[in-house]
Amino acid sequence: MGDSRHEFGGDWTEVKLEAISAYSKFFTGAIGGIFDLWYVDPFAGTGERTAKEQAGGLFDQQPLSTIERQYPGSAARALALKPPFDHLRFGDAKRRHAKALQALVALHPTRDASVIPGDANHFIQKMFSEPPWTAPDRGAVRSRALVFLDPYGMEVKWRTLEVLAASKKADVWFLANLKAAVQQLSHKHGMLTEEKRAALCEYFGTPHWEERFYELHKDESDLFGNPTNSSRRQATKQEVALFHKECLGTIFCYVSNPLPLAVGSIDDYFLLYCLSNNSTPAARNLIHKGADWVIRRYKQASHHRSALRGGGQ
Ligand SMILES: C[S@@+](CC[C@H](N)C(=O)[O-])C[C@H]1O[C@@H](n2cnc3c(N)ncnc32)[C@H](O)[C@@H]1O
Repeated sequence: MGDSRHEFGGDWTEVKLEAISAYSKFFTGAIGGIFDLWYVDPFAGTGERTAKEQAGGLFDQQPLSTIERQYPGSAARALALKPPFDHLRFGDAKRRHAKALQALVALHPTRDASVIPGDANHFIQKMFSEPPWTAPDRGAVRSRALVFLDPYGMEVKWRTLEVLAASKKADVWFLANLKAAVQQLSHKHGMLTEEKRAALCEYFGTPHWEERFYELHKDESDLFGNPTNSSRRQATKQEVALFHKECLGTIFCYVSNPLPLAVGSIDDYFLLYCLSNNSTPAARNLIHKGADWVIRRYKQASHHRSALRGGGQ
């Protein structure tokens, strides 16, 4: 057995995974049997989530203690889905995680499920640059994919999104880390390093964020005649999110409203988007309908959990 311990996330993670499972069920229920269905999860972790939780207390009449609980992660949920996916591909950059995924897949010997270890961008760009994803639908086997991009931070490259959009056959659920992006956008323009610039260009797919978010004026000089730029970021977090949505809209013809996921007191720490570039109007309507329903339903769940926590960590 692989070591499936993987401590990450919190109650927002359960909202996110419930939302992905709900859309997966909608997806396989609506088009299973008509299309050959793939589930593709290149940031799959170990297949499980380990959470440390408080147990006991006054109401349980037990001393307070911290216990460890295991929850099914995205891979375990996808394998258990009914109606099922026809093919499942999982990946992770961490060797221990990939080994745990292989052990999970081995528990399902009758399924077409496998693990492609390594970088998610490489995995997706390679897979979706080959048939059936690059070829028009032909004959009886017509393929469609549900791709779940679930990074910790800003690991998804713009090129990866472009390749998925170009296939026109993938419904992509993308977890955008708004908190991480805003963190890279220093308040003082002069504090933007080349590293930050590169990460932000990958996130937005364009260098135009710089002129959009900062009022760039002529460089001034400090007391010693060294050039400085005293411009400060004008854009709010909401404007940053809106610009990102606009950028996604340049490559995908459908970009859902995001499902905001609250972490502690930050309501929109993560934004979960459904993206599709399917050019068939009937398919686009169906995707829109399914994604809207899921987002509305889990927005309420997210608010509810956040309210229960009282907005604290
Ligand atoms: C948020 S966790 C994914 C959790 C998983 N989807 C689940 O629900 O169980 C992010 C995972 O991405 C992996 N990761 C980070 N950078 C990566 C990359 N460039 N390519 C592939 N995996 C990466 C990490 O090792 C981690 O397991």
